[in-house]
Amino acid sequence: GGPVTVKEFASKMGREVSEVIKKLMMLGVMATINQEVDMDTAVILAGEFGVTVQELPPEEDPTEIAEIIDDPADLVPRSPVVTVMGHVDHGKTSLLDAIRKTHVTTQEAGGITQHIGAYQVVNQGRKIVFLDTPGHEAFTAMRARGAQVTDIAILVVAADDGVMPQTIEAINHAKSAKVPIIVAVNKMDREGANPDRVKQQLSDHGLVPEDWGGDTIMVPVSAHKKTGITELLEMIGLIAEMQELKANPNRSAQGTIVEAQLDKGRGPVATVLIQNGTLQIGDSIIAGTAYGKVRAMVNDRGEKVKKAGPSTPVEVLGLADVPAAGDVLLAVDEKTARAVAEKRIAKKRTEEMAHSQKVSLDDLFKQI
Ligand code: GTP
Ligand code: MG
Repeated sequence: GGPVTVKEFASKMGREVSEVIKKLMMLGVMATINQEVDMDTAVILAGEFGVTVQELPPEEDPTEIAEIIDDPADLVPRSPVVTVMGHVDHGKTSLLDAIRKTHVTTQEAGGITQHIGAYQVVNQGRKIVFLDTPGHEAFTAMRARGAQVTDIAILVVAADDGVMPQTIEAINHAKSAKVPIIVAVNKMDREGANPDRVKQQLSDHGLVPEDWGGDTIMVPVSAHKKTGITELLEMIGLIAEMQELKANPNRSAQGTIVEAQLDKGRGPVATVLIQNGTLQIGDSIIAGTAYGKVRAMVNDRGEKVKKAGPSTPVEVLGLADVPAAGDVLLAVDEKTARAVAEKRIAKKRTEEMAHSQKVSLDDLFKQI
């Protein structure tokens, strides 16, 4: 609740206003009859009158859906989700390609197996999910929405170029998201490769390599020569093991939109990283202002699937609208999905209207 006036407070307590003012004075607060008393003071004051005040739970926001709290007993291990970050041209895409070509589950599709903006690789029997939205723009967009999708960040630094502005930005992003960083010192095949200089530069930014007494894992790699890839995956596995990542596959799905677009033939298509629960065909879903029913799902190998569990990237068909990257996707009952989506749309419209009114007013002044 908000503040109350001295008069209101007195009537709620069934006391005289003068009594309340006196008590306030004893607490060192000078107040008049119509003065407002803040919540903290009101609680103390009530205590003085022998009344215990209970804070009411915060009002429910009709545009939010309550989070499901899992019973720890229902949690089982899940695969780590990894994002690749780093400066322009330092080899993020090349590294992802190298990982994919050397470790993708199946080779049947002849090389390019990736169909969606995320994929799984298997190293020593353990799955790792890579989000193929490299660069920190996507990362920033998701973080701005409070979506935490990454368990581990791979920071790619070209051994010949060293630490650059976007390398530092990436470090800061990962740090503020509290995501552990593994450094991949790329382009080791290059003549000008100088990994020691990279280590020095990174140490200056708080990432001290293990062999220098720090705790940052740095793996020398070459995306071109495909060297160091297995070691890198091993290190990811190691960090993931320490994180003890868990989820509950036996509940309604919760995930994050990695990317989405309008497909001419198929309608809105969203790549979703399922983070908890299991998404199934026929489930009612909501993501941002979009809602619908899962009509079909396609995995990272282009195969149709009927369900997708935790740490699985899937393409989802069936939303009536295109959601935004970073939107949280939830499987909820149809009524809730529609009602909440409509409330979100209305809220968005109000916000846009307020914005456009402000703009037109500004324009008006400009013309005068
Ligand atoms: P942006 O997406 O534009 O930020 O770049 P990126 O970080 O994805 O880099 P990308 O993989 O596109 O590689 C940039 C250039 O570096 C390309 O010309 C690659 O061929 C080259 N490159 C990437 N990895 C290596 C490597 O290990 N060795 C050598 N010699 N060149 C590499
Ligand atoms: Mg790239």
